[in-house]
Amino acid sequence: MTPAWLAANPRARKDLAFGRDQQFVVNPNGIPELTDELKQCPAHKTTPLYSLPALAARLGIGELHVKDESQRFGFGAFKALGGVLGVYGVLSGAVGDAYHKSPTFEEVLKGRHREVTGSYVFATASSGNHGRAVAAGARLFGNRCFIFLPKFTSAEKEAAIRAKGAEVIRVDGDYEAAVAECKRRSAENGWTIISDTSWEGYDSTPRDVMRGYTVILEEVIRQWRPGPTHVFVQAGVGGLAAAVIGYLWARYEPRPSFIVVEPRSADCWFQSNFAGKPALASGDAETAMGGLACREISPVTWPVVGLATDWFMTIEEDQVMPARRLLAHPLDGDPAIASGPSGCAGLAGLVRVCTEESAFKAMHLDKRSRVLLINSEGNLGEGTA
Ligand SMILES: Cc1ncc(COP(=O)(O)O)c(C=O)c1O
Repeated sequence: MTPAWLAANPRARKDLAFGRDQQFVVNPNGIPELTDELKQCPAHKTTPLYSLPALAARLGIGELHVKDESQRFGFGAFKALGGVLGVYGVLSGAVGDAYHKSPTFEEVLKGRHREVTGSYVFATASSGNHGRAVAAGARLFGNRCFIFLPKFTSAEKEAAIRAKGAEVIRVDGDYEAAVAECKRRSAENGWTIISDTSWEGYDSTPRDVMRGYTVILEEVIRQWRPGPTHVFVQAGVGGLAAAVIGYLWARYEPRPSFIVVEPRSADCWFQSNFAGKPALASGDAETAMGGLACREISPVTWPVVGLATDWFMTIEEDQVMPARRLLAHPLDGDPAIASGPSGCAGLAGLVRVCTEESAFKAMHLDKRSRVLLINSEGNLGEGTA
């Protein structure tokens, strides 16, 4: 018997091939080239992949590797990749339409087609990281951008978004009100919305955003041979999980086992797994893990996350701080890693599994297992104590 916080995916099969439906969501073609091209970005550096042998031994597994996205672009979180690629996707599409030839990343970055790209104005609604990421993307390519913030977003977050050169519009309401106002004003003014989640009739930009995230996995493949047997990835709407699962599924034969981790109050993937289709979270998404506080999945990701996640699991709020401390104050000789509440959620999931024998066995974890985690954000201002 496995615990109630863990659920196997009845649709997942290791021999299911990565096919056209998956390629529509996450297209692995061209990602090695894109990873190389990103070196043109002034702030770009491959993020480190740390090995934590002491913690692996404590948990009873063979190897533990943590990809440290807190160091991405000096931005503090993996989301920067999505903002940059989301904006690039729109601009390169516009140049392609105008000249029937897709421009390279470098050409758009250096403003080779400003006559086409210069008039684009971007917009998004966000309560934090994604808005900052879109602002960073727009600034990189030299475009104007508007970020719609709900009433509750802190003044610090607003300042961080403004510091990236974006114009901020405060909406007197919650996140949904900010989304509605963003859609209304964008339609009125001809602004282009860059969203990390999809909805009916809108999935091209969210797919570009996920394409940005796949760079993380291309780097992991270059940094680590033979690569992981198990991957624990935290999910909000599922964009990061789709990039992780899709890219590694396409590249590894056999693919690793995938485990998707969510806060209990924001368990939209856990519930969707039971329903066999996109379903709402069972809770109110009140969680310290702000990046994972989502009540609905991004529907376009279903053919990847819905079909190749082997296990869905939830974690409790009081499991987050111990995981953050484990990364910040490591065991003997392991490197110290700064993480935020959403960043360390994968580790919180792994620890939960490793301390529950039935879960550990069900996932076929043992001393030969090689586990990959992604520290998706650094310590962006919240203390670890
Ligand atoms: C730090 C962090 N980790 C993980 C996630 C989850 O990503 P997704 O919503 O694509 O599942 C987010 C989303 O904002 C985030 O900010």
